[in-house]
Amino acid sequence: MIDPAAIVARFVEVRARTERLAAPLSAEDQQLQAMASASPTKWHRGHTTWFFETFLLAPHGVPAEHPTWAVLFNSYYESLGPRHTRAERGLLSRPTAAEIGVWRRLVDERVLTLLDRLDGDAWSTVAPIVELGLAHEEQHQELILTDIVAAFARHPARPVYDASFPIPDRHGGAVRWIEHAGGKGTIGAPEGGATFAFDNESPRHDVWLEPFEIADRLVTVGEWTAFAADGGYETPSLWLSDGLELVRAQRLRAPAYTERDGEVVSVFGLSGDRVAHPDEPVIHLSFYEADALATWLGGRLPTEAEWEIAADHLGQRDAVAWQWTRSSYAPYPRYRPSAGAIGEYNGKFMVNQLVLRGGSDCTPPGHTRPTYRNFWYPDTRFQRTGLRLARDPSRGRSS
Ligand SMILES: [Fe+2]
Repeated sequence: MIDPAAIVARFVEVRARTERLAAPLSAEDQQLQAMASASPTKWHRGHTTWFFETFLLAPHGVPAEHPTWAVLFNSYYESLGPRHTRAERGLLSRPTAAEIGVWRRLVDERVLTLLDRLDGDAWSTVAPIVELGLAHEEQHQELILTDIVAAFARHPARPVYDASFPIPDRHGGAVRWIEHAGGKGTIGAPEGGATFAFDNESPRHDVWLEPFEIADRLVTVGEWTAFAADGGYETPSLWLSDGLELVRAQRLRAPAYTERDGEVVSVFGLSGDRVAHPDEPVIHLSFYEADALATWLGGRLPTEAEWEIAADHLGQRDAVAWQWTRSSYAPYPRYRPSAGAIGEYNGKFMVNQLVLRGGSDCTPPGHTRPTYRNFWYPDTRFQRTGLRLARDPSRGRSS
């Protein structure tokens, strides 16, 4: 059932949250782009606004306020025309952060006016677009946070985004293994279900699982420290070939934003520099590091199906770090991207990336669900990426 009042309220709330996240950042901060895969705050604020103008307002006859800005804020939609180079978003000194703020308020008013005038039938086509636009904006809210850390980490003064940003929950101690007998299971979100899900979470379908066990908690900083101290980064037998090549080429010895001095591990994040507790989850690992660490610990990464089947029983399920799985980001059986430009949202990225499950402390509250599929390239380290262990019952019973 579509609840128009709830959708309107959520629209107001999500749009305002983006502005709250940007508020501690000066116009100069909002201009920074640390690397091609991270975007300026200002760009995220503009792009999410462009999304509503393009996919909601324009089809209802409301023209873009600044047609020349489309080339700046179109991210990757080939069917919507040319785009400014992704790696050069930091060069977009104009429009200014203030001008984007004005544009955001204008588009918000126009969307609210449109929604106010919709009749009952029209809601069935409009609601999914608004829901998608809001879920999209929430994804960019997370990126605002991860991308500003990527920029601030390069600043010698180590700027603080928010001194009171919560530090991760600690959950050390012995792993509790959740056992699953295997057999037929069902994963994914039903198409046209009552709650929003991205198209990549559907169709819901059957999977076959071998018996497995999955850890109740995430792998910790203390466990990573032991791995590193044991020469984990220099032990080829632990690594996938591409991972070993990356480690050697970039002389990697720690996750991103992380330094180890003996047992003392310092991390940089939204609250600035701090010493990590051994019992907090280790994050900012590439897939390769996560895989090698899992191997060293006597386990393996779970598949996304194992993760989802066990989701209701997992501790730290979706509040601390995204969790690498061993599953390639691929279409589910019978998946078809939507028609038109919106079909470019997820489907065309289904190659060469790995699925992550869960959510992180930068993910907006309520944004994810057990069927949610995040995906990144295996060398990604600037996201808040960690792991939980899985293992096969017949082997690896070392703990
Ligand atoms: Fe986007």
